[in-house]
Amino acid sequence: MYLIANWKMYLEFDESVELAQEIANFLIPKGVKLVVCPSDIALADVYSSLPKKVGKGAQDGYWVEKGAYTGAVSMEMLKTVGCEYVIVGHSERRRQFHENNEAVAKKMLAAWEWGMTPILCIGETKEELASGRRASVLREQLGAIFLEHQHEVKECFVSYEPVWAISQGGVGQHCEPRDLEIAMHEIVEWVGECTDLEQIHFLYGGSVTADNVHSYMKVKHLEGVLVGAASTHKDKLQALLTALA
Ligand code: PGA
Repeated sequence: MYLIANWKMYLEFDESVELAQEIANFLIPKGVKLVVCPSDIALADVYSSLPKKVGKGAQDGYWVEKGAYTGAVSMEMLKTVGCEYVIVGHSERRRQFHENNEAVAKKMLAAWEWGMTPILCIGETKEELASGRRASVLREQLGAIFLEHQHEVKECFVSYEPVWAISQGGVGQHCEPRDLEIAMHEIVEWVGECTDLEQIHFLYGGSVTADNVHSYMKVKHLEGVLVGAASTHKDKLQALLTALA
């Protein structure tokens, strides 16, 4: 089982390094793979504090290698500090930074080119769900890479994260496991029409905590979870890792 810890913009530099040092003392159950995605300013220091067996991830990366791109960090740059996994197309990037499916696909291709494993996030908004557009939105998000670049696909993660279920702190609106089962079935079927499913790891993300992770892990096809808020607290993260075993 995978646990992708997306620390978003929650932790300061010192807090990030401190948590990485705590993780070095964690009891990570056998069969559970933790991947940590800190903010860019803390990447190198967090990576050097983490034990070897913990995956080194990043929250985003730009597809161009070098040049006049103020504020951007390229996939090549991530690779040179030791990054192994990179999140692409998170709904917060899609909505707040206006990233479209085409840009997300370019990021995936660049991640593969630099020998990293992309973690593609897909998911519909509340409005898209309410107007019955979930299926078409997910198909478009998946199609931009799995259909348009069918022959370039390598190992990757696909994390289904309904936008309306993210950052609810485990108390607000959440995705019922039986609804997740239906969505996962569709997603796996579509991806399977385009590519070899052996190389795709399916995840769920959206207010996952140690209390609800078990119910999600029963859902067919799921190999793990992508966790935001709950992965930024030492005790909550340890509890999640234990619950995943
Ligand atoms: P959350 O974030 O766990 O804080 O809801 C999940 C995500 O962004 O996928």
